[in-house]
Amino acid sequence: MPDSEFQALPGGPPAPLTPVVTFQLSVDGLPGHLWLKLESHNAHGSVKDRTARALWRDVAERIDPDAGIIESTSGNLGVALAALAASHGVPFTAVMDPRSPASLVAAIRALRGHVITVDRPDGAGGYLLSRLAHIRERLAAQPRLVWPNQYANPANPRAHTQGTAPELRAQTHGRPARVLVAVSTGGTLAGFRDYLTAARPDWELIGVDITGSAALGGPPGPRVLSGIGASRPSAFLPGGYRQAVHVSPRDAVGACLWLADTTGITVGASSGALIAAALRMFRAGPGRTDIACLCPDGGDHYRETVYSPRWRRLNGITPTDIARGIHVVGAGRPPVPTPTGTGGAP
Ligand SMILES: Cc1ncc(COP(=O)(O)O)c(C=O)c1O
Repeated sequence: MPDSEFQALPGGPPAPLTPVVTFQLSVDGLPGHLWLKLESHNAHGSVKDRTARALWRDVAERIDPDAGIIESTSGNLGVALAALAASHGVPFTAVMDPRSPASLVAAIRALRGHVITVDRPDGAGGYLLSRLAHIRERLAAQPRLVWPNQYANPANPRAHTQGTAPELRAQTHGRPARVLVAVSTGGTLAGFRDYLTAARPDWELIGVDITGSAALGGPPGPRVLSGIGASRPSAFLPGGYRQAVHVSPRDAVGACLWLADTTGITVGASSGALIAAALRMFRAGPGRTDIACLCPDGGDHYRETVYSPRWRRLNGITPTDIARGIHVVGAGRPPVPTPTGTGGAP
């Protein structure tokens, strides 16, 4: 496999791995364009497919086919790694926690992955630190086991510097935009930051985290949504990230429900956080009228949580009316710009 994920096909334009859809909005009567890059269209349902391939390439030579690999995951990376491990005949252990969606646990098991659920809270609002402690114990007992370590392996951000970010830029035809990226390990955001530094697209890059997450600095607190946020600062963003916003779970869930109601598209909780942040930015007034969200996964694995009234009631999450005053007035794929001077349609 080549180093870059985003390769030109012989004789043709580069082929994107996932689609972008756009929605034209009326924001209190003013226009706004919401671009959603739907990473659910990756083979195993999330942006973590890209990360998994990059991590696998990085550790492939060290893998002992008897001992196999182990990784901590809230689910998406686990499915993608389980698929790679199964196709190479290598044992894989996913270290998860009680918040991991049952459907993702089932998907990993269906791919012959071994799932360990660590149910000891880590004292920082989640389970991450307990999951990592478990991995260290396993590595001490079985040194031939390989841990790709998505939390610190530079292959994680590189997958996005070389793949996801240039792919999005090509799909938005280089249009200036605010680009919103969700944070957990911080790998995606760090990868986009590195792309911004190297290629200088006319983007304003913003990291979106959930309240109670310490991923971008600040004290950790209780969190109920899976896939976004972390119990400790990101190793890829040790100084945090200057342009960052924190979204409440009520806003994230409110945005998921709004998108489903108005467009029929269901997305996961972290995408909901991105869209909630985007809607607030649109409403805040003058600024960029184009906002692109890198939506990490779809709504399938959130039927028992975000999209379940019972779960919301049990967890005290009353969705906010995040899109008040905002209406979808059009939809489609991104327009292909007409070359200047050729006289497009009047
Ligand atoms: C559901 C979900 N949210 C957010 C993210 C962002 O994660 P990270 O910061 O680990 O790149 C991911 C993974 O890419 C994800 O799968």
